[in-house]
Amino acid sequence: MRLIKVSDEEELSRMAAEYVFSKIKRSERIVLGLATGRTPLGMYRHLSKYSKEYKLLFSHVHTVNLDEYVGSRAYHAYMQENFFDHIGIPSNQTHLPDGEALELERECKRYEEVIKQLGGIDLQVLGIGENGHIGFNEPGTDFSSRTHVVELTESTLSANAKYFTHEKQPLKAITMGIGTILESKEILLLAAGVKKANAVKELFRGSLNENIPATVLNHHPSVTVIADVGARSLLEEES
Ligand code: F6R
Repeated sequence: MRLIKVSDEEELSRMAAEYVFSKIKRSERIVLGLATGRTPLGMYRHLSKYSKEYKLLFSHVHTVNLDEYVGSRAYHAYMQENFFDHIGIPSNQTHLPDGEALELERECKRYEEVIKQLGGIDLQVLGIGENGHIGFNEPGTDFSSRTHVVELTESTLSANAKYFTHEKQPLKAITMGIGTILESKEILLLAAGVKKANAVKELFRGSLNENIPATVLNHHPSVTVIADVGARSLLEEES
């Protein structure tokens, strides 16, 4: 696992955007796995800016998001507003789980099939939960899980409550499974702020622990972590 050390969230956003943009520029076709939440917001802002500056439409880019809340389109709206509206990507090339699907189990299978039909994920961008979740795979999730419905934990609900001022916060979500995420060819994990310090410390301990889902990344051959000072604070105390 490679660690890129940055000082703050702004540098993290720039680094992450440069990393992803260089892959997009160099490829004729690319499938990006994307995350929502606070951490990648700056990355999306920079990528949108680069797309305009370099006059590069993202017409050869396909995207698959990690997750969506059940009964909600909150992450569809987030992606549209913060990224898709700015980069000239055809709408049929962007994919998120449908949290409003009537048959959720069938939707999970459909989503797995979408990823398979695209030929798998070339680069998966991940954030990390305070409890070490990746996607919405909460502590205790089977490392071989595929796309499934999850009940969100108290920790995740309280970390994300601030986004639900206009709508009741859903208690469930559809998420790519850990097994699904692990099949990505390459992974870029972004961690910012002291609240992530414990999860980042556990990640770099190197051992696998189902109670800290991100530790499974120690099993993946190509992972890059970009972490700011806050997220690295406990890591550096140890070394
Ligand atoms: C979001 C996702 C989550 C977040 C994580 C960190 O699509 O899959 O795993 O990446 O909860 O969220 P922030 O960045 O808001 O701290």
